[in-house]
Amino acid sequence: MSLSDQLALKAERASAIVDEYLKMGIDDVGFAESLAEAMGYAVEGKGKRIRPVILLEVYRLFMGDGCDLTPAEPFAAALEMIHSYSLVHDDLPAMDNDRLRRGKPSVWVEFSESTAILAGDALLNLAFETAARAFDECEEQDMKKTAQAFSYLAKKAGIHGMIGGQAADVESEKEEIPIDRERLLFIHRNKTGALLQAAFVCGGILGGANAEQINALETIAEHMGVAFQIQDDILDVVGNARKLGKPIGSDAQQGKETYVTLYGLEAAKAEAARLCDESKVVARCLPGDKSFLLALFDFLVDRDY
Ligand code: IPE
Ligand code: IPE
Ligand code: MG
Ligand code: MG
Ligand code: MG
Repeated sequence: MSLSDQLALKAERASAIVDEYLKMGIDDVGFAESLAEAMGYAVEGKGKRIRPVILLEVYRLFMGDGCDLTPAEPFAAALEMIHSYSLVHDDLPAMDNDRLRRGKPSVWVEFSESTAILAGDALLNLAFETAARAFDECEEQDMKKTAQAFSYLAKKAGIHGMIGGQAADVESEKEEIPIDRERLLFIHRNKTGALLQAAFVCGGILGGANAEQINALETIAEHMGVAFQIQDDILDVVGNARKLGKPIGSDAQQGKETYVTLYGLEAAKAEAARLCDESKVVARCLPGDKSFLLALFDFLVDRDY
């Protein structure tokens, strides 16, 4: 089966898991019906689902082919909810002011700004309610690993992760703070790298990775996070909005400094490829059949959507 077929299949499974936990979470909400509708709208659509796919794939590497994925599923769903909420808030007029997401009008355009803010907040809370379900799914002896993964996810979603990166990104743009390599790397590692780190590392923790393997997963995720965002910056310049499901030229319109504005398209491509190659070298110490994961690294930096 080709990588794109494998990815499509795994993404479909991930979507089904996210849907199941989302439905459970937004059941019987009384007068908060339209909030629930906006939450569903934010999560569904043309998302690539790479974060839950990576989390489940890394878990499988450690637990072995054909293992029961159930103990990792609440985390996979929670991570996609956090990522989806980050996109809802990222598109708001106060942030990137974008009107198209996942091939549809952004949540604030389809509903309202206040609904987009609240739907994001509610998805973040639902994510942790969902991840907490892993404690019901796991064996007594796996409680500690589950607690470690829970705390790692919380850290990487917050000021030491995605929100910290978003804050530095938005501040640079709005306050016109000049960006150098150090600040740009901080932004990329956090706004994008952190949730990818949560995917790799939570999958590893739940699967029983040792300290050395966790270090390797963190390094891979940091490299791939930066590489993924470099490709996102490239696609904002040379991509196709219909294929991407989001606008192109948004960064330029916001006056955002990116890897591309700082170093040019060719250097940006070369840096993403270098980070991808380094990740493959580090991945050698992981157990199991890594062929899908390694092919996925190439997709993350070569993708056109
Ligand atoms: C978009 O992430 C935002 C970034 C962190 C670059 P994705 O490219 O994974 O978006 P979806 O989930 O496929 O919509
Ligand atoms: C956003 O980066 C990363 C998030 C944490 C949402 P971008 O602002 O470049 O993401 P897109 O291009 O809007 O998807
Ligand atoms: Mg942004
Ligand atoms: Mg944006
Ligand atoms: Mg972008």
